[in-house]
Amino acid sequence: MKKFWDDRYNAGSFAYGTNPNDFLAIASQHLQKNSDVLTIGEGEGRNAVFLAKQGHNVVATDQSDIGMAKADKLAEQSGCTIKTITADLAEFDFGSECYDAVVSIFCHLPGGLRKKVHSEIKISLRKAGLYIIESYSPDQLSYNTGGPKDVSWLVTLDELQKEFPDFEILHGESLVREVVEGSHHTGSAAVTQFVGRKK
Ligand SMILES: C[S@@+](CC[C@H](N)C(=O)[O-])C[C@H]1O[C@@H](n2cnc3c(N)ncnc32)[C@H](O)[C@@H]1O
Repeated sequence: MKKFWDDRYNAGSFAYGTNPNDFLAIASQHLQKNSDVLTIGEGEGRNAVFLAKQGHNVVATDQSDIGMAKADKLAEQSGCTIKTITADLAEFDFGSECYDAVVSIFCHLPGGLRKKVHSEIKISLRKAGLYIIESYSPDQLSYNTGGPKDVSWLVTLDELQKEFPDFEILHGESLVREVVEGSHHTGSAAVTQFVGRKK
């Protein structure tokens, strides 16, 4: 899959644009000032740069070194700083109680890896830390507007609630919304959104 993403990010401009994800733009209002934030599956940096411009200390990770290089450049052009780490999430060192928030935007993973990553995110968050995720839901298979075609990579709200049973849910919703984020994500889309706070 790394080659797939490297090729996509090598193909031209910004595959998902340079504006932040709509849901993150709203959900980020839950963050305290100067939060330490980890963004996973960050791609080309649009969400990390948005958060850094708000004053947060952002670590962005993705398996694509092409994406991470573009993220560094986008940050420089935007007059902010982010730390980028090229890594596969299967091997990424999340650390323990070191982030105030972890952000995952359209970072679809096979079900087994998603559960492993979610276990590690729980450990990596400090007390009251937030997990912010927007993912395509299984209903997205009926739309032809982006995302993986394997249902096990798509996530329901029920699964997120089960994977974060001890978290206070600040926002949890499955809905169909208009997504306009570059040519690969455009049109009506079925998504699951979740903002959970570690108790
Ligand atoms: C649809 S793109 C979304 C990019 C970005 N979050 C955004 O919204 O612009 C999914 C990203 O997840 C990354 N990704 C998928 N599986 C990964 C894995 N196992 N380890 C690291 N990154 C992964 C891909 O490289 C890709 O950049």
